[in-house]
Amino acid sequence: MDQRKMHGVWGNRWTFILAATGSAVGLGNIWKFPYITGENGGGAFVLVYLVCIALVGIPVMMAEVLIGRRGRMSPINSMRYVTREAGLHGAWTAIGWMGVVAGLMIMAFYSVVAGWALNYVLLAATGQLSSLSGAAAGELFGGFLGDTNRLLVFHSLFSLLTFAVVAAGVTRGLGMVARILMPFLFAVLLVLLVYGVVEGNFSAAFGFLFDFKFDKLSMSGVLVALGHAFFTLSLGMGAIMAYGAYMPEHANVSRTIITVGVLDTAVALIAGLAIFPVVFANPGMEPGSGPGLMFVSLPVAFGSMPAGEIFATLFFLLVAVAAWSSAVSLIEPGAAWLVETGKLKRAPATFLLTLVAWCGGVGCVLSNNWLGDNPDGLHIFESLDFLTSQIMLPLGGLFIAIFVGWLMRRAIVVSEMDAEEHPLFDIWLFIVRFVSPALIAVVMIASLYDKLVS
Ligand code: TRP
Repeated sequence: MDQRKMHGVWGNRWTFILAATGSAVGLGNIWKFPYITGENGGGAFVLVYLVCIALVGIPVMMAEVLIGRRGRMSPINSMRYVTREAGLHGAWTAIGWMGVVAGLMIMAFYSVVAGWALNYVLLAATGQLSSLSGAAAGELFGGFLGDTNRLLVFHSLFSLLTFAVVAAGVTRGLGMVARILMPFLFAVLLVLLVYGVVEGNFSAAFGFLFDFKFDKLSMSGVLVALGHAFFTLSLGMGAIMAYGAYMPEHANVSRTIITVGVLDTAVALIAGLAIFPVVFANPGMEPGSGPGLMFVSLPVAFGSMPAGEIFATLFFLLVAVAAWSSAVSLIEPGAAWLVETGKLKRAPATFLLTLVAWCGGVGCVLSNNWLGDNPDGLHIFESLDFLTSQIMLPLGGLFIAIFVGWLMRRAIVVSEMDAEEHPLFDIWLFIVRFVSPALIAVVMIASLYDKLVS
């Protein structure tokens, strides 16, 4: 039987949008975007990030989906299929392999941070986040990072939850999560935003995010922004390719992907506009304080809000759910491939991959306290984040853009985009051929040069 026919298909275009949005919207938007914006000086970083989303992220996302749609298999086998079809050397399949590895590397630290969110659900629900001062919130978070056992329990719990959905098969497991809980998350973020406007220092926050002060942005900050455009849209490692493989025959790729990209960007900006007013209203808090930013600032906001405990519980729960629907797409490419080899069933295949990522997460947990206390110690968490976001994902994206822009037959590209010849199609193709690859290459080389010189 043709392997390409074994694959399930999403119900309709909306299911794909919801699943892709579920993958895209996650910790990257709510946890990572605000804290890296804070670390990189604000406005100019946000502007570069938005440019990267528009000129690299969204065009490359379309390219990734159309490879998946053409191949209709796991990213590894889809890449093999389109490579053969184009009469090229099998080395291009490496895009798929690198994606599986990158997915597990991301999952390692992602599930640790998602575990932080689960812990905060428990803290909020049991009233331990009520009426915290900024300093107390900082101490609470710091103490938690030193509590290895607690970190491991929540990391393991999140890994288990992810395993369950992937083992059941994503077309079955994800629809409901995305359809019901995502809009809910959006609503709670809006409540936080209103709180920030009324009670926080909103004007300082707005200025911080949208005043473009370029002297505050370094070349390596530009690479962080580019890398984050990939991270937040789940690009460059085959996740969106794997989802594209489940896409129905006739669905307009460009419109669908633009919807996903706009939703994802909106969530990140709203999260920033909700978090920074609290940061600037509390003298002890620093925008550049790093990965704890959300966990230190928001409890203070919830603490002084009517029904704050309920909102806090709900918020951290929804963050965990958003992380969950993202994590699924980190494991799916590898799982789909293992199933296609015919050697493993879905459940054991998923178990194996989740276990590998779980071990990496244990490394992150340990390096966050006793290993990391030593300045020469291992910084597994930071290294995994750096290697994936700033090296592997942009490289994956670069090769995907080159492949679709230069090596696939134009007729195939047109038919998989489901686009008649259209002026917008030509603009997109021009961006994928010239603009995205050039931007990725220039930013990567310039920041590498910057690191070597300084
Ligand atoms: N995009 C998700 C987030 O922002 C994370 C994620 C899920 C991801 N799948 C991915 C990142 C694939 C890179 C590649 O939280």
